[in-house]
Amino acid sequence: MSEVKAKAGLEGIVAGDSAIAEVTQQGLRYRGYDIEDLARNACFEEVAYLLLHGELPTKAQFAAFRSRVQSEMKLPPQVVRAIQDMPTSIPPMDMLRSAVSLMGHYDADAQDMSKAAMLRKSERLLGQLPVAVALWCQKTAKVAAMPPDSNLTLGANLLNMMLGKKASPLAGKIMDGTLILYAEHDFNASTFTARGITSTLSDMHSAVTGAIGALKGPLHGGANEAAMNQFLEIEKTGSATKWFNDLQTHNKNNPNSKKLIMGFGHRVYKNGDHRAAMLREWSMELSKETGQGKWITMADELQALMLKEKNIHPNLDYPAAHAYYQMGIPIDLYTPIFVCSRITGWCAHIMEQLEHNRIIRPLSDYTGPALRKVVPMAQRG
Ligand SMILES: CC(C)(COP(=O)(O)OP(=O)(O)OC[C@H]1O[C@@H](n2cnc3c(N)ncnc32)[C@H](O)[C@@H]1OP(=O)(O)O)[C@@H](O)C(=O)NCCC(=O)NCCS
Repeated sequence: MSEVKAKAGLEGIVAGDSAIAEVTQQGLRYRGYDIEDLARNACFEEVAYLLLHGELPTKAQFAAFRSRVQSEMKLPPQVVRAIQDMPTSIPPMDMLRSAVSLMGHYDADAQDMSKAAMLRKSERLLGQLPVAVALWCQKTAKVAAMPPDSNLTLGANLLNMMLGKKASPLAGKIMDGTLILYAEHDFNASTFTARGITSTLSDMHSAVTGAIGALKGPLHGGANEAAMNQFLEIEKTGSATKWFNDLQTHNKNNPNSKKLIMGFGHRVYKNGDHRAAMLREWSMELSKETGQGKWITMADELQALMLKEKNIHPNLDYPAAHAYYQMGIPIDLYTPIFVCSRITGWCAHIMEQLEHNRIIRPLSDYTGPALRKVVPMAQRG
């Protein structure tokens, strides 16, 4: 029996030190910068550089970084073939998980754990992931192949490549902004998975493959897709209030299979997620261009009900759903977009874990049967 018993889900447990992100009730900071400040004054690649290298880049560092990442925006032909051979019915998150694992096979740095090689792999993955997502769009939605434009942000390029055409400058700017908001969030489930894998001195591609698996779940990154499917379901019922009341009735009558409202709640932010408020504003701005403000009206109605009835606030995945929907992105690509951003936080944590590594190996309290003797098979009946 251990001396200290953790709460379920390790709630409130500080599991280590990190100098990458600071989660405060006033907002999230990356290496000391408020993300609102970053979102207003920097592009995603600057933030990626900050997370991976520790400081914001100078003009020369930025130009060199952008050029390095853009030169990595290609996949080994074997990975292209493997993606083309995958069944179109699989979730794109499964495609990405397998693709990253395969990318490791053809990466000359794969087993090199030096800091220089880890940085090269981080920048390579940052360039490769959007290409894998774009390839999936070409295969499944038959969109045109769009080469990345060296003058555009990574977010704008990702959006264009997913759509197979040029999106509006505003949509590109907002996409890039969402990548900033999604980039890093201390010891969340996928990052902790990546750190746990890294703590065994396993390689970066293994850690990222595991992290993608963790992000896929609807309680974590998969919530942005689930939130949009929920908006579509609400639209069918005709009213957010009716949908909410029906769900409450279901939960009352089925206490053992209560349904969650996706895009709400957070382990850390109990008084609201600042990122969600920012992205709601941007989505509202986008709706003036798309004419699809109905999603925000619906979202606001449900948000007011959740606050009044349950005092639970929306998280970032909630506005991400209606922002990405307005951009015309297929719903099952919302979590892969999250991967294209969070790769920066994961890689920063993988490198930080290696700098002060000790294997992550917690204990459990045993709750199974007491010591007993094996009854030989012949006597077990
Ligand atoms: C994010 C999340 C996993 C956090 O989980 P957590 O910290 O363990 O939160 P808890 O389960 O302790 O929540 C506390 C209470 O709020 C309720 N609650 C939390 N999120 C809820 C939601 N989205 N819908 C309905 N009720 C919710 C819980 O049922 C619980 O109620 P109870 O005390 O009556 O059992 C959880 O809020 C959730 O599943 N949200 C929906 C998925 C989502 O949007 N994920 C993205 C996270 S950024």
